[in-house]
Parts: sequence; C-alpha cells; structure tokens
Amino acid sequence: MSTVKNPAYGRKDEEAVDEGHTYDQGSWRAPWGLLTVIGVLVLLAGFGGGFGAGWGARSANQNDEPCTIQVSGTDANPAAADNVDILRQFTPFKISSNASNSAVQSYYDQNAILNPAFHTLSVVITALSGKNATIDPNVLRIYVLGKYDGDQDVVSRLFNVAQRLQVSPDFFQNILEITTGMVDIFNYIRDNMSKIGTTSGASGRRALLQSSSSSSNQPLPSQVLSAFIKSGLQSPTLQGALGDLTPIFSDIDTIAALAVDTYYAIKDLAQQVDSMAVVMNNYHPESPTAPPSVTAPLTIGGFANTSVQVTVSYDYLVVGEATDDAVATVPSTGRRLLQDSQILIPLPAGFTPKKPADLPNVLIPLVFHVMLYSNGDGTYGPPNYANSLTMAQRMVAIANFRLQPAKIQLFVQEVRASPNFQYLIKPSRDAWINCASPGFFYDLCGEVIQPSAVDFPRAINIYVVGEQPPTDWVGYAFAPGATDDPFYGHMGLTWTTFSTDGVNNRANFESGASALVHETMHHLGMMHTFSDGTCSDDDAPSVSDTPTTNGPVWSQSWAQKAYIACMNAWSKSLSANWDTANRQASLRVGIPANDANSAFDSCPSSAGSDETANYITYTYDICLLALGHLTTGQVIAMHQITADNNPTLYAWGQYYALNPPAGYTPPVVATPSPSPPPPSPPPPSPPPPVAKPSPSPSPSPSPSPSPSPSPSPAPSNTGCQSSTNKGCKCVNSWTYLNNQYSDCVTVPGEEKKGNWCQVDRSNGNCANARNGWWDYCTPSCGTKTATATPSPSPSPSPSPSPSPTSTGGTPRCGAGAPTKSGLTCTSAAWKLKSSTTTYTGCANPTNDAKGNWCVLAKGQATASGAAWDYCLDNCNAASPAPTTGGAVTYPYNKQCNRGFTGLPNGCTCADGYTISFQGYGTSYSGQRGCTVFSETGTGMCVTSNCKTASNNKKAFTCDCAV
Ligand SMILES: *[C@@H]1O[C@H](CO)[C@@H](O)[C@H](O)[C@H]1NC(C)=O
Ligand SMILES: *[C@@H]1O[C@H](CO)[C@@H](O)[C@H](O)[C@H]1NC(C)=O
Ligand SMILES: *[C@@H]1O[C@H](CO)[C@@H](O)[C@H](O)[C@H]1NC(C)=O
Ligand SMILES: *[C@@H]1O[C@H](CO)[C@@H](O)[C@H](O)[C@H]1NC(C)=O
Repeated sequence: MSTVKNPAYGRKDEEAVDEGHTYDQGSWRAPWGLLTVIGVLVLLAGFGGGFGAGWGARSANQNDEPCTIQVSGTDANPAAADNVDILRQFTPFKISSNASNSAVQSYYDQNAILNPAFHTLSVVITALSGKNATIDPNVLRIYVLGKYDGDQDVVSRLFNVAQRLQVSPDFFQNILEITTGMVDIFNYIRDNMSKIGTTSGASGRRALLQSSSSSSNQPLPSQVLSAFIKSGLQSPTLQGALGDLTPIFSDIDTIAALAVDTYYAIKDLAQQVDSMAVVMNNYHPESPTAPPSVTAPLTIGGFANTSVQVTVSYDYLVVGEATDDAVATVPSTGRRLLQDSQILIPLPAGFTPKKPADLPNVLIPLVFHVMLYSNGDGTYGPPNYANSLTMAQRMVAIANFRLQPAKIQLFVQEVRASPNFQYLIKPSRDAWINCASPGFFYDLCGEVIQPSAVDFPRAINIYVVGEQPPTDWVGYAFAPGATDDPFYGHMGLTWTTFSTDGVNNRANFESGASALVHETMHHLGMMHTFSDGTCSDDDAPSVSDTPTTNGPVWSQSWAQKAYIACMNAWSKSLSANWDTANRQASLRVGIPANDANSAFDSCPSSAGSDETANYITYTYDICLLALGHLTTGQVIAMHQITADNNPTLYAWGQYYALNPPAGYTPPVVATPSPSPPPPSPPPPSPPPPVAKPSPSPSPSPSPSPSPSPSPSPAPSNTGCQSSTNKGCKCVNSWTYLNNQYSDCVTVPGEEKKGNWCQVDRSNGNCANARNGWWDYCTPSCGTKTATATPSPSPSPSPSPSPSPTSTGGTPRCGAGAPTKSGLTCTSAAWKLKSSTTTYTGCANPTNDAKGNWCVLAKGQATASGAAWDYCLDNCNAASPAPTTGGAVTYPYNKQCNRGFTGLPNGCTCADGYTISFQGYGTSYSGQRGCTVFSETGTGMCVTSNCKTASNNKKAFTCDCAV
C-alpha cells in the first residue's frame, strides 16, 4: 500500500463487521488478508449521512469540511503525482426556493461537477439494475436532483463519488475505460449478489438491491463488499476492469473503495430505472403541432343563432420604426411568383430566391428571449444571465457544424436578456421555474409570446425559461412552426439547456447544441425518425431514407451496448477530440458506417438498422457528438417543407446566406489537433456581439435584420486569469475549505500541492478539470501572496435598472417621450405594418380608447411583451382619442379595460384580427378586443392565449369583465 489516505471527513462511522455472516464460497475465497486496510473506506461510504435508522444515521453537517486529500505515491512533490484528490463539500440546495444568485450559482457549480459523472453512472446503474435500457445521463441528472431535492443523502454521496470518478487529469479522454471498468464491476456485483454474504444467519440472503426503507434491510458491511470486489479484481473475471481502471486510480484498494461508495450511492437508484424511463419519455416531448389554419367557416361560440358563420384570422398589430422591413407593406401586385405569395416581409429589390430543389444555402436569424426573475432587491436572476449573448453564440456555433451538411445555418440576430424588456421579468425565481413546470412555457406563461415575437416568421423566436429539474423537458418546437401566429411558431428551451452553467458545454457533450439542432429540425418540418410502439415511420412520407424504427434509442434492449459503442466512437475514432468531432459533424451527411450496426435494430423485418445518432431521434448526447448526422432525405425534405410552409424564412434565409449579417461567422473547421489533444483552443470562436446596423436610408426595404442592442456580454471573470495545465483559465475568486482564494495559488499549509486553482468553466469548453473542478496552474498574473480570506457573504450584483426617462419638466409627447410603463418612445418615425402612414412620438392610429401610444425605442418592451406602449395621460389632450359619442357605428369596440367574460378558460380577445361573416359578404380587418358587429349585435372576438390550445383562433361572444 503506497497510498496515503488522509480522510478529513469529520467523524468516523465505526462499522461493526458482522462476525456471523456466511459465504456461499463456491470457487470464491474470501480474501481476508485484504480486509485489514478497509477501515478508511467506511468513512467515504458514510459521507453525507447514514444508511438508515440504527445504522450510523446522521445528517450532514454543513460546517464540516468533508474534504479528502488523497495523495498517491510517495514522491517528495505530490503536486507532480497524477492523481491528487481535492474534493469539495456538498451543499444542500432546495430547488424551488427564491434563493440568491450566489446560492443558485453554487448549486449550478455543484451540478457541473456531478454531470460528467452521470455519463458513467447512468450505465453503471443500469448494469446494477439488470435492465437493458440505459437511462440518458441528462434524465438521471433531472431525476436525482428532483427526487432527492428534500433529502440529499443520495446526492451528497453521488457528489463525492462523482469527484473521485473524475480524478483523472482528463476524465473525458478516459471515460470509456472508466465506464466499462465500472460496468464490469457492477455486472459482477449483480451476477454474484447471492454470494456476497448474509447478515442475519438463518433468515436468508441479503438482497443487495433491497430498499433502504425496508425494515428488513440491513446494510451490507462495506468491508465484505470491498473484499468481494477486490477478489474479483484479482481473479480472471475482472481482469479487463482492472486493466482499464488501474492506470487511472493507481491501485486495487482505491478502485474497490470507489466501487463500494458508488454502490452505496446508486443502489436505491438502480431500483428506480423504470421510474426514470417515465422521465425519459418526457425529456424530449412529442413535438407539438400547430392547429391547422381554420379556413372553413365556424359557428360563433356562445351565440344562439348557429346559422351565422364566420371565418377568422389573426391580424395582430405589427408595429415598428418606419425603416424596419418587418413593417413594410407587402406589395399586392400580381407579378410575384406563386411561391412568393406568402412572403410576409418584402424581399429586397432584385433578389429572387431559389427553389428548394436547388438546395440553396439558408441562414436563419434567431431571436432569443431569455426570461429572467426578480430577486426582490433590484437584482435579477438567473445568475450569469448577462452572459446570455455569449451562451447563445456558443450554442449556435456548435449547432452550425452539425447543420452545415443541410446547407442550413443559424445566426444570432438578437438576444433579449435585459430588464428593459419588461415581459422577460417574472416576479420571483419560483414563478420563473413555474413557467416551465409542470408543462410547457407556452401553456404556462405563453401570453407574452404573441406580442413579443420579433421579426416573425422570418426569424425563429426562442424563449428560454426554467430549470431541469423540476421541469423534465429540454426544449420544444412546433413541427413545422406556424407562420401566422408565434404562439405556434416559436421554440422553447430551458435555461439549463441554454446556459453554459447547464448543459451548453463540452462537459455535457454539447447537449445544449444538440437540443437546438433537434428543435430547429422540428421547426423546419422534420418529425422524429421513430414511432412509438410500432414499426412504422413517423417521418414518412417526406423522408424515406431513415430506417423504420420502433421507439427511441434509449428504450431498446440494446441501448446499453449502443451507449458504449458511441462512447467507443468518441474515445477511439475521435480520440476524444472536440475539434475533430465538430469537423466531422460539418461533413457528415447520411448514415455513417459506424452507425449502421445490425445488432441495433428494433425492426428486423424492415430494411436497415436503427440509427443511434440521427439528430432528430431521442438518443444519448455522446452518440450525437460522435456519430451525429442527418440524412440526404431529411435535408431535401427540410428545404421543401420550409419553402412551402414558411416562404418568408426560406427566401430571406437565402438572402442572408448571400449577404451574411455581422452576427454570423461560418463554422471554422479546425484542423484536428494531434492526439492526445493538447489544450484545445476555444473552438468555434463565437461571432462578435451583434452590432446594430444603421438603418438603411434607401427607400427599398432594408435587408438587414435590425437587432436591438443586446446586453453587452459581461464576462463572469475580469482581469488577469492564469492558465491551467490543461489550457483553461483559473477563476478570479474561489473558495476552498471556507477560505477564499484568487487565481492561481499555493494554499497555505498545503504547500506540497503546489499551485492550483478552480477552473473557469464559464466558456463551456473546459471539460477537463480534475475532480470536475480544479487543476494545477502556472501563475501569470504577477506575484501574489496567497492569503486565505474567509469567504465573504456574496454581495448582490449591480442591477441594470431601466433608466428613468422623464425629464421632470413638461411631459414630452413627441419623439423620445416617456411612456406609462416607464419606457421611452422611439425617436424615429414609426408605422403600422398594415399602413403607409408614419408617426413620430405619441399618436393613435388605431383609435385606441386608452389613448395615444407610440412604438418604443429599440431595446425595450412592455410587461405584456409589446413593442409599443401608451403615452402619459397629458399626451391625450394633444390628440384626443376619437369618441364614439352619438349614434353607434358598427363595429364598435367595447373597450374592456378589466379583461373579458364569456370566453373559454384563459382565453383573451386577440389584439388584432379579421372576421368575415359568411352569407353577409362582410369582412372586418384590424379589429381588436371585444367588439360588437352589426351582423350579430353582440360583443364578439377572436380568441388567443387559451389554456386549451384548440380554443384559440375561434370566434366567441364576449363581454367586459367589471
Ligand atoms: C460472479 O459472476 C460471474 C458471472 O458474471 C461468474 O463468472 C463468477 O464466477 C462469479 N464469481 C464468484 C466469485 O462467484
Ligand atoms: C418566492 O417569492 C414569491 C414572491 O415573493 C412568493 O410568492 C413565493 O411564495 C416564494 N416562493 C418560495 C418557494 O419561497
Ligand atoms: C435484455 O436484452 C436481451 C437481448 O439483448 C434479452 O435477452 C433480455 O431478456 C433483456 N433483459 C431485460 C431485463 O429486458
Ligand atoms: C340566423 O341568422 C341567419 C343569417 O345567417 C338569419 O337569416 C336568420 O334569420 C337568423 N335566425 C334567427 C332566429 O335570428
């Protein structure tokens, strides 16, 4: 034994070795000689809590520093040793609480250490469970964090094991060996469970998988398990595992200790694989489809005379600065091609889009709406929201490698993540979480979508909100996205999916970018490549070259083998090189040879075997990273469906591809770095922040997108950052053993470890931290004396508060005037899409009963999501709202100021609609709210925001709430 273990876990749980146990020895001989060194293992197994009543049960004491410093070898300079454990303490966190940004950030940091280990543990848990389906690591993460939210014994054990699994200087390079070695050990434990002794003599054998809540459950003395594992490692059975794991963990004792503690961390989870499968199905929801546009006449809900029929459509208010092409009126000449007939934003003069059969390059603008929450003290969450632009650009850059073969690319036109967009702000963290759980954003908080959508349907509007857990979805999109209503034409992502603190990073195998690719394909009309429960083809007939598949990859009996095969492809074919993965993805079209494995075939009677890595099946992120692809059939179908369904996006996408906006940088196909990869340069460098193009003075529609000012990406670390051994950076300020350090230091009292620091993972590219969080470093920020300062309580980050606009003197009503919501009118001329008249400052082109209004300056929107707002009351004198005094003229707006009655649950009257009365030959466009029509003599409107989606876009009778 050369390993020096210095367990700093405060208390030692003495574990009585049951002298009464018996062994079914068979060919196995208990290696009692090894038991002498096992005492220290118990400390690890007891970490974070007890095993149950009467067995050392205790609660984790947060003031303890359960930090193990384990130095391998007897070198004089342990810092040079390969595997030095510096483990972090577990901090319990309650998800649904209005926690401060710093508390939430430390929860995110903790999860970031856990997540890589879930890539290994998901398949280890499956091995122990004896089930075939391998739980997706993301689902395991959601399940564990959610289920053990109130009782964090299991999470604290996992946190400890997670750090020790990542002891290697590059966990992601060794992940195949670590995973297969551990799987072998846990297959061995499962297979031999009946031989691992009993505790109660005559009462029978222990079930290793017995629930800890069962009264008959007695803990297995970890010495016995450890001895059993060690004997296996010394026998031919586990020679493979020993060979895989020894180079990483140095010796058999360390391996056995890790396996024992892993066993206690996962044994309850192994019994819950079936419950996790339920979460797995919700993880990627069925892609919702927009209700078909209703063209057939409808009867009016709530109206007695059912022979009065109407057709309705949304005709909602689109306003903007006069130079915005989104408000340019589409010319109604008959000279356009039939294909252009639905182009809702006029194309630049002289530009003719190609046909889908030509497979033109298409560059699609994205507008991210990052939902925020108020912390109640002038600050906003989630932490790091100010880095949203960088996060979006990173995710898009990775997604673009994968979409390149489809000749489809994305660019970040605008990222809205500022309190000046009032609709983004939820009143509390709790409320923000509840916008995504249980259910989808559009159902729970979707009333802001229609008013706030930007540049629709030319751009894809992506709403980012909520966390996993409690939500169990990663993202959603309508397939294909509607073009007449953003409510059915937007995309949703959780903050977890989007954030580099979540899964938008290498450490989660680029799960965030995978989600963006998947949902973009839905938006462009693609269905999943599998169908559930039968061997039929969900994406038929538009796509014929994806094999018929029954169920997603992770539900198959061969899922575990497929998972390991993908890990093998990552490790061997790609040499665990992130740049190579991106480069290959940018070239790969069609099913790659190593994703056509006849052993992975859910429908043997139909042609082909299952693809484990089509971007639009449900599969493991490691498969998408290593083998991700789309087929030629999908590429052709996406172009054709998009051209038919959303000609505005398709034509403008071609225009942007030929005239790339500033926000777009084509994927840089990096030369693969030699293997083993040195510190990789931050691969696709994110495009520069979106600059605001100056409005084109030319009368022709400005072809450039008009991004509002995005939040300037405030780097989470400023100032000098030293480099780590693996080519990352140190964080400026970090905490260890309750002391605070900055950058790269030698911790006083632990000089033997040399210089080290917490690795800055905020750019998403630093997956190779030791124990998931630290690395050795070379100080390069000048000489510093490392002083341990007690970590101060976090101070709130400064709040970007909306600047008051009132001048304090006479209220202004012209250009730049203040508005009722504390926002500012645009200084530019503005107009309605449906009109050619332009206005400056406050005006009332819609004869709105509430008075004058204006289009807001760029970078602002109201709490309802509107890009316009009412002016201060004084401004109405200058231009009084028309009154309806005297004889009633139809249609007239009932001017409901307190909401509506008579509508189905949750519905409101749409802000703009057209209604046509069949048989009367009458049609009214530009209607708003609850309006009385002469044809019916009663209040009516077209619905939106209904809880039940099928009630939207219907005509209903209505009245004003009082
Ligand atoms: C454990 O199970 C394996 C089968 O997986 C078997 O080959 C081996 O002999 C068993 N070991 C012992 C000690 O019983
Ligand atoms: C969070 O704060 C909001 C608003 O102050 C409050 O309504 C809610 O109950 C709080 N939730 C929790 C879990 O504390
Ligand atoms: C696992 O899959 C194999 C075939 O690959 C099958 O024989 C076995 O019954 C399956 N086990 C379970 C628990 O489904
Ligand atoms: C119902 O409406 C139709 C017009 O669509 C009208 O001809 C008929 O008289 C109305 N019936 C009643 C009972 O008002």
